[in-house]
Amino acid sequence: MIMDNKILKISEDVSWIGVLDPALRVFDIIMTTEHGTTYNSYFINAEKKTVVETVKEPFFDTYEAKLRQVCNPEDIEYIIVSHTEPDHAGALRRMLSIAPRATVLGSSVALQNLKYQIGFTFPCRVIKEGEMIDLGNKHLKVINAPNLHWPDTIYTYLQEDQLLFTCDSFGAHFCHEAMFDDLTGNYDEAFQYYFDVILKPFSTFFLKAIDKISSLNIRAICPGHGPVLRAHWQDIVSKTKTLCEQYLSGHPVKNRVLVAFVSAYGYTRAIAEKIREGLEDIEGIEVDFCDLEKTPATEYEEKVARASAFILGSPTINQNMLPQLYQLLATLSPLRDKGKPAGCFGSYGWSGEAEQILATNIQNQKLNYCGESMFIRFRPQEIDYERIKAYGKKIGLMLQ
Ligand code: FEO
Repeated sequence: MIMDNKILKISEDVSWIGVLDPALRVFDIIMTTEHGTTYNSYFINAEKKTVVETVKEPFFDTYEAKLRQVCNPEDIEYIIVSHTEPDHAGALRRMLSIAPRATVLGSSVALQNLKYQIGFTFPCRVIKEGEMIDLGNKHLKVINAPNLHWPDTIYTYLQEDQLLFTCDSFGAHFCHEAMFDDLTGNYDEAFQYYFDVILKPFSTFFLKAIDKISSLNIRAICPGHGPVLRAHWQDIVSKTKTLCEQYLSGHPVKNRVLVAFVSAYGYTRAIAEKIREGLEDIEGIEVDFCDLEKTPATEYEEKVARASAFILGSPTINQNMLPQLYQLLATLSPLRDKGKPAGCFGSYGWSGEAEQILATNIQNQKLNYCGESMFIRFRPQEIDYERIKAYGKKIGLMLQ
């Protein structure tokens, strides 16, 4: 059990006052978080006392206790909202009740959103690209970073302390009470997964933001989730840049094909196995072979995010495809997954409606449907094997 009463000094005047959520296993309903997460908030002890980000609302009591260790909330002058997703801005409503003098600073879109989140009027001011927020003895520079990953996103850079606050960018869902990247151990996998699911679709914007921060002298990057990057921030920025470039070039690190299916009597599975064989004939293809009935729905998002192509299988039951397929398709991101090769297959006994439903759903999701399906009445026979393998291979070759 982690006791969450820690405050960590990042510099003489800046402290991490975020909260730990080690038990979280699903974020935003669909994203798995095997290592929990943290909601990072930072206190700047300048002449004008400032907080960067709040936390998810249910954690407000823990957060308030930490805040009161570093200041009297009535003395807070500024609260910076880097974007308005409620895992960070959710506690702002309660925060304003204990910090009555505070002015909320954010992008114009952020302040529009907050109107609908907070529900009462509050002191606020729009801050703009390049503006220097005067904290008395310190200065925060505003860097617009739109669509990382919400349209309202900004970064802020504390000049005197050389600290960069980056909202969700460069973060990870990874909870470790040590909080500093040199003390938490390796969390590469969590970082990559977070990038794949949250930020990868916005790679063009991410490269622009990386370009904007390239001339800054940085002592540490302070993201919205996961470790504070005081030791390895350059590696993380450089890795992020590479991942964005790979994504935009259309050449992912691995060509991973998700063959995901449900099978009532083993016939759809038998088709899936032959499709896998066809895919495995192609060098460089990795197959994620997934029986959705045996896979927790919470893992669907991760599998989808990592796939370069999809071959989805369902029998027809009650003139429909199976609900697992609907659920998996619901985790596709139009921005991230648009244009990825896709096909569908299944076994049927009577009318076989799943074929049309699956093919239509694939096309509605803007995947690059291969133009044909592989549906077989009842059990695939030996005579079918070669054409099923060829079907898998055809979709695999669309990646080359
Ligand atoms: Fe961690 Fe976009 O909120």
